[in-house]
Amino acid sequence: MTNLLIVDDEKEIGHFLSHLFTAKGYNVKVVNSGKEFFSINLSLQKFHAAMIDLKLPDTDGLTLLQQIKKKQPRCKTIIMTGYSTIKTAVEAIKFGACDYIEKPFDDIDLLEKQIDDLLEDKDTNADEHIKHLANEVGLITGKNETMGKLLHTAYKVAQKNITVLIEGETGTGKEVLSRFIHHASPRSHESFIGVNCGAISEPLLESELFGHERGAFTGATQQRKGLFEIASKGTLFLDEIGEASRSIQVKLLRVLEAREFMPVGSEKILRTNTRLIAATNKHLFEAVQKKKFREDLYYRLNVVHLKVPPLRERKEDIPLLIDHILHRFPGIDISFSEDALRAILSYNWPGNVRELSNFITSIVALSDPTQNVITADDLMFSNLTSVPTPVKPQPHTITANGEHHLEHYLQNWTNHILSVFNGKEEIHLEKLLEEIKQLESKVGKAFIMKTLKEAGGNRNEAARRLKITIRKLRYLLNEKR
Ligand SMILES: Nc1ncnc2c1ncn2[C@@H]1O[C@H](COP(=O)(O)OP(=O)(O)OP(=O)(O)O)[C@@H](O)[C@H]1O
Ligand SMILES: [Mg+2]
Repeated sequence: MTNLLIVDDEKEIGHFLSHLFTAKGYNVKVVNSGKEFFSINLSLQKFHAAMIDLKLPDTDGLTLLQQIKKKQPRCKTIIMTGYSTIKTAVEAIKFGACDYIEKPFDDIDLLEKQIDDLLEDKDTNADEHIKHLANEVGLITGKNETMGKLLHTAYKVAQKNITVLIEGETGTGKEVLSRFIHHASPRSHESFIGVNCGAISEPLLESELFGHERGAFTGATQQRKGLFEIASKGTLFLDEIGEASRSIQVKLLRVLEAREFMPVGSEKILRTNTRLIAATNKHLFEAVQKKKFREDLYYRLNVVHLKVPPLRERKEDIPLLIDHILHRFPGIDISFSEDALRAILSYNWPGNVRELSNFITSIVALSDPTQNVITADDLMFSNLTSVPTPVKPQPHTITANGEHHLEHYLQNWTNHILSVFNGKEEIHLEKLLEEIKQLESKVGKAFIMKTLKEAGGNRNEAARRLKITIRKLRYLLNEKR
């Protein structure tokens, strides 16, 4: 027999739930206060599941949740909450509640399903499901406990249409996390649209978000739909929300409060059902304290707060992430020696997963194709910039060994450049062009070495065949990298 505990001070709710679940064959116990709850001997009476109201006259649901989790860790708990306390309900999930449901219950079937799923242990399989969904959006779930809990919470809140604020340093994976939330949500078949609030000017951002009427401003030759309309059934990802101007902040507040907005130059009021996920790599609350960000908007956005830990606090995930990154290069068989891995693990990765990804990509692009194992000597972490670069000179890479290596080298280069070009990572063009200069010099050298070989080592002859001066030949051969 399944034992279900219901804690709610509203007697009618207790009766209703008791009726509903007794009819399903459960053994239901209802209590109406904290006092009654504490009179139960939890060591003797075991519950398979508990539904706990968050607001009780003499205590709060979170205290009861912790108590029951302590005494009966296997008991599945669900928090019941009114809309105004959703934030606390999300906290409850962080404390180990399996889920929360909103009162009043307007979908009884859903309510029954939630309890049935819980009791059928579907929740225990959640980890596998989370991993699977995360993989589908390219998010690697490592071994780190904080990350694990974060994904669990993200997965839970994904099911409901509530606003999420993701904070985390640059490159920690805020965008992939928001894609995961969308993918795990009932909206996954609708569109996921991202917009970077820091990357475009205010008027442009306004028209991007809310749309505009024809003739609303110079250049507005046609009417245009805004993202709040386009993504009305889907998810809108507002990246770098901290960069949104005051006037955009006011408009966002209105959308969040009333779910409505007006396109630029229009008097029409449009409604939207977009699910909003905002991200920032700043401490948004500090911006609130400095009066740079509206406090009311902050609280509206911050219904669910997810903080992605920096990579240096989850280094145990680095080997898995490296594997994942290497998988992007089919046919490349590279591994890291123990000392190389140690060096990688001792580095602090201020640019987080993105930096790691760029780093591995450049190793792949620049490594000697005959060398399958990268050693610590092959790595050099620059302490001047935050971007570590593999810089071990490999003079023999293409020079002595002929076309085969040149071909491989150029292929690696093409892959590297194309992956930067097509990737979503920040591009350091200066750095890329600098690397291309090295490529130029390597290719030049490869031609000279080949011709020198064919000319029996005669420099004058090689220069003649290559139509360059002997000075240029010497220059190219001796050029420092
Ligand atoms: N857990 C992860 N598994 C696999 N790849 C990841 C993970 N986290 C981040 N990445 C990769 O790292 C790069 C940066 O991630 P993302 O763009 O989501 O970071 P971000 O936090 O949004 O950065 P920024 O603040 O600079 O916008 C991407 O290429 C992403 O695919
Ligand atoms: Mg981002």
